[in-house]
Amino acid sequence: MHRKLTLIVATILMAVFTVSMAFAMGGGNARKGKFLYRKNCRSCHGATASDLSPASKTQAEWTATFSDKSKIKCSGEWTVTDQELNDIFSYLHDYAKDSPSPAKCS
Ligand code: HEC
Repeated sequence: MHRKLTLIVATILMAVFTVSMAFAMGGGNARKGKFLYRKNCRSCHGATASDLSPASKTQAEWTATFSDKSKIKCSGEWTVTDQELNDIFSYLHDYAKDSPSPAKCS
C-alpha cells in the first residue's frame, strides 16, 4: 500500500517537473515530443537507422540539424506536422548531451 502511494507521488512530482521544464525552455512541447519521437522516429532509429537519442548531439547540433528540415536524410519518410516536428525538436534539444538535463537513455 505504502509503496503504491510513494510511486503515485513520485510520478506526479516527475510529471510536474517535466511540464515546468518544458515551459521554461519555451518553443515546442518536449513531453509531447518524446512521445511523438517514439511513435514516428524510433521505428527506424535504433533499428535500421542510427540510434538517435537527445544525447546523440549538443543543443547547437540539434538546432543546426533542424534548421533545414529538407536536409535531414529521412525527411521523406515521415508524415509529422511542423508543429509535431517542433515538439520533437524541443525534446531532442532540451535533453541534448550538453543540456541541463541530458537524457540518460532513449
Ligand atoms: C523509415 C525509417 C526512418 C524513420 C521513420 C525516421 N528516420 Fe531519420 N533517418 C533514417 C535513415 C536511414 C537516416 C540516415 C542514416 C542514419 O543516420 O542512420 C536517417 C537520418 C536522420 C537524421 C540525421 C542523423 C545524424 O546523425 O545527423 C536525423 C536528425 C533524423 N534521421 C531524424 C529523424 C526524425 C526526427 C524522425 C521522426 C520524425 C526520423 N528521423 C524518422 C531513417 C528513418
